[in-house]
Amino acid sequence: MIDQTFPQRVFSGIKPSGGLTLGNYLGAIKRWVEMQEDPGYETVYCVVDMHAVTVWQDPADLTRATREVAAAMIASGIDPEKSILFNQCRVPAHAELGWLLSCVARVGWMNRMTQFKDKAGKNTEKVSLGLYAYPALMAADILAYHATHVPVGEDQKQHVELTRDIASKFNHDYGVEFFPMTEPVIEGPAMRVMNLRDGSKKMSKSGDSDMERINMLDDADAIAKKFKKARSDAEELPSEVAGLKDRPEAKNLVDIYAGLTERDTADVLAEFGGAGWGKFKPALADLAVEKLAPVSDEMRRLLDAPDELDAIMARGAERAAGVAEPILARTFEIMGFVR
Ligand code: TYM
Repeated sequence: MIDQTFPQRVFSGIKPSGGLTLGNYLGAIKRWVEMQEDPGYETVYCVVDMHAVTVWQDPADLTRATREVAAAMIASGIDPEKSILFNQCRVPAHAELGWLLSCVARVGWMNRMTQFKDKAGKNTEKVSLGLYAYPALMAADILAYHATHVPVGEDQKQHVELTRDIASKFNHDYGVEFFPMTEPVIEGPAMRVMNLRDGSKKMSKSGDSDMERINMLDDADAIAKKFKKARSDAEELPSEVAGLKDRPEAKNLVDIYAGLTERDTADVLAEFGGAGWGKFKPALADLAVEKLAPVSDEMRRLLDAPDELDAIMARGAERAAGVAEPILARTFEIMGFVR
């Protein structure tokens, strides 16, 4: 039975846990703005606060980080009139559908999630139950909007694939074609920005040292210092992409340059091939400052008026609920709940 046809709808989210990084900007927010400007898509962007508390968040930090993520989205070009922009806890459909979908997802599927393994490490008995169940809530975020496209960085690919598995099992078990098969959108040279001190690890909000990452709110001096001290290697830059093989730190810095200029990596190497780090790193730092300074200035301005940010998220939540609630209601109905 065909239950519905699906409009092209984009959903994505960022956790308000710690400050935002260049990885979030290049891997996610920049693409979100492009998709917003494409008239073929409806775009829904969420500050996923309920995901943040899967690990301990100091209450004051959660409040500040929630506003910081909203400010970063707006400062980067997300327009709350064109896109639906809100924070997750204001739309109860996420938690409700999250429960229903955690009854569809299988424990064996959750056990394969590499991000859980990375985050829990040897501590699997001590982490929260929420951290383990997190991918079912993420599936609910996406499926509550019948989202067809999810722009994310490479690290979230497995979670979007799990979302498809959950949607497919639901549709099969209930004999419907209700949830869409969502596509991850992972494109561009900087879909996996790496740690500046260790090219084998992803740049993350929560790494041990601040020198490992560029924060969206870093000032020009901090950005210059971090790129200057970023790990590189003893060789000069190659002229072709193949020359970056087995050089993770070099590849990362060139990919960041490419991501910031919206060029491909080969194009950047055609310009810088043969150059040493003494030339490339200052050029990269200048470029990052040029691109990030207007965004961080605007973020600071927005953060000075938290009430306005809160009002924007509240309005967005009303619009979001308007889309998600009928989908949740139909899910309950398909499953046979008496409501
Ligand atoms: P989060 O908050 O860790 O990251 C937000 C977005 O930024 C991308 N990203 C990166 N991209 C490239 N290089 C990096 N170093 C890097 N670090 C982060 C992430 O891939 C992501 O796109 N589970 C999600 C949040 C979420 C979500 C959703 C996303 C919850 N529900 C529904 C999409 C759809 C997360 O923890 O992202």
